[in-house]
Amino acid sequence: MPIGSKFTIVDRRREAGAMEIEPIHEDFGARVSGVDLTGPLPPELVEALHAAIDEHSVLLFPNQEMSDEAQLLLTEALGEPEESHIAFGRTGEIVHIGTVGNVIDAETKRNEADPHTVALKGNNLWHSDSSFRRVPSYVSILHAYEVPAEGGGTEFVSQRAAYGRLAPEQRAAIDDLHVLHDYVFSRSKVAPVHDNHAASLPPIEQQLVRTNPRHGHRNYYVGSHARSIIGWSGIDSRRLIDELNEFATRQEHRWSQQWRPGDTVIWDNRCTLHRGTGYDADRFRRNMRQTRVRGGGPTLEE
Ligand code: OGA
Ligand code: MN
Repeated sequence: MPIGSKFTIVDRRREAGAMEIEPIHEDFGARVSGVDLTGPLPPELVEALHAAIDEHSVLLFPNQEMSDEAQLLLTEALGEPEESHIAFGRTGEIVHIGTVGNVIDAETKRNEADPHTVALKGNNLWHSDSSFRRVPSYVSILHAYEVPAEGGGTEFVSQRAAYGRLAPEQRAAIDDLHVLHDYVFSRSKVAPVHDNHAASLPPIEQQLVRTNPRHGHRNYYVGSHARSIIGWSGIDSRRLIDELNEFATRQEHRWSQQWRPGDTVIWDNRCTLHRGTGYDADRFRRNMRQTRVRGGGPTLEE
């Protein structure tokens, strides 16, 4: 046996084969162990991650020794990193990683009254990241460095499971609809949106029902950015969108991530909604870093 072949086999097992996936909710979600997301990311591991995302929608990887560099490498391995629409909209700057929380540095944090803290409360409305972009997000990757002693969780639901719970005639009634998603519509309820930023994000038409390209399972795609149904009155639009959001986000269908430092979560924005549960920024520090991978194209071309 040539020297080294044994090591190749062992390495492969560690990189992809040893990945253990344990479901955490009946609808979706899994805790994944046996994977170091900060180590080498060979094609077998990347493919195993894509497959797990397609199947489980939300993946929790505890105890990751993450860094910004490693998170950006992981993001690039999964596809094209998506730039912050906030920085780009306001100043034209391109940045691919951002802080979620109130931490500025080891000594300094933003308090409740800070406009940045207030604006981030927009994340406490159920949403799918970047559903208001022409090419919306495939996945988000969020890593926890510092977490509040109380609150500061993130809740998830599956819009695939919700679609599956609709009656066949309800599914048929929504299958071909298109929806306008509008960041200014949703987020200006929470905090003013800077003029440059608002001007950079016109409302975008998306398919209401999306299909996973790997296994063909379908899901609806709404959340707080969903503003109206194309061709429908405002009243009828809101009735349907509010009903679909309410149906998907009922308490019994939620999975709540109580963050611990070292947790990395990857979620599929194509088929899930999430929201922050909130925390007291006057009392606690929260330091999480977020990246996103751009989706494969406009939903209307899927
Ligand atoms: C996000 C987000 C919620 C939270 O990072 O996209 O919505 O709990 N986070 O901070
Ligand atoms: Mn989000």
